[in-house]
Amino acid sequence: MNDTFLRACRGEKVEYTPVWLMRQAGRYLPQYQAVRANVDFITLCKTPELAAKVTLQPVNILGVDAAILFSDILIPVEAMGVYLTFSDKKGPVLSEPVRNRSAVDRLIIPDVGEDMPFILETIKTLRRELENKVPLIGFSGAPFTLATYMIEGGSSKNFIHTKRMMFQHSGVFSCLMEKLTATVISYLSAQINAGVQAVQIFDTWAGILTPRDYEEFALPYVKLVVDALKSEQRAKSKEQRVESSVPIIYFANDCAGILKEVKKTGADVIGIDWRIDMADAIKRLGKKVVVQGNLDPCALFLPKEKIEEKVKDILWKGESAKGHIFNLGHGILPETPVENVIAMVEAVHKYGKKE
Ligand code: CP3
Repeated sequence: MNDTFLRACRGEKVEYTPVWLMRQAGRYLPQYQAVRANVDFITLCKTPELAAKVTLQPVNILGVDAAILFSDILIPVEAMGVYLTFSDKKGPVLSEPVRNRSAVDRLIIPDVGEDMPFILETIKTLRRELENKVPLIGFSGAPFTLATYMIEGGSSKNFIHTKRMMFQHSGVFSCLMEKLTATVISYLSAQINAGVQAVQIFDTWAGILTPRDYEEFALPYVKLVVDALKSEQRAKSKEQRVESSVPIIYFANDCAGILKEVKKTGADVIGIDWRIDMADAIKRLGKKVVVQGNLDPCALFLPKEKIEEKVKDILWKGESAKGHIFNLGHGILPETPVENVIAMVEAVHKYGKKE
């Protein structure tokens, strides 16, 4: 089995720097578009056979070192009781934004097996079909990022409703965050039990907060998730008398201003977006941290030689961390030429070889 990715997550010795890409399954791939032509996005997420199929596409086409479960961070939000649609122009749209106490009270904490059985089915199918070729990553949105979608009713520019609730109705906000945290814990824990070998927590909107607000309104809930998963892992290792540890990756987009606080999440791997130099990020996190990232997704529009240069620069800087998993600084863009992505993966494998 190619477990280079898992070993890098644990800070162990690897033969080369492993690579995968955020949003590696998606519209830039003609093979994904062919599947999507016959089915809407939410149905695709909820049909295990198809979700497994598109999860495997980038593994076979790009030669990446990990697969990531095909789904969306908003699937559990829907299971909590908020009707969700995806529009081509606006992205996710929630039918009724959650903006007051009674809306929060109406939300349920889903039972993963009952309310999202397709997720567990997709994971089991994938573990079977991957045949240990590469590890499978599960994921969830972080409580704060999920809260922004719930409160705003979709994507947002200034997050006025979210900040209004945070600052003026902090009791309602913390109730919402507690429900989301319980949901994220049971969601990730169910994914781990079904067979994912690492998990990533996406905190796409954490960077809109001041460091102090991040520390008060977002960080404590991420810590609860990390602590709960780690203590479950410890109990399992003890019970089964085998070391079982599923690495936890935490990705906060636009993390430069909050790196000191991000380190306090206790995650095993810290994802770094592209707005900060990798050397700088490692200097500020300390050399005991394993990092992931941080190529600008737009670098994939450059000629191959330029892509190689940028890959080499990040690889070289990543050497000073305890471990480095190559990735983009955020999701791959739909307009990206596939041949450039393949060239990038090849460059990481070629120049990331260890002596
Ligand atoms: O990484 C992967 O390949 C796994 C699949 C995955 C998707 N979304 C598929 C997707 C993952 C891990 C996500 C996470 C996700 N979803 C995040 C966190 C990561 C990030 O990008 O910050 C967020 C914020 C969402 C919410 C979301 N989903 C938005 C805002 C949109 C619309 C914008 C867009 O890119 O279309 C989506 C839709 C979405 N999620 C698509 C895919 C492949 C496109 C849907 C389509 O086929 O039309």
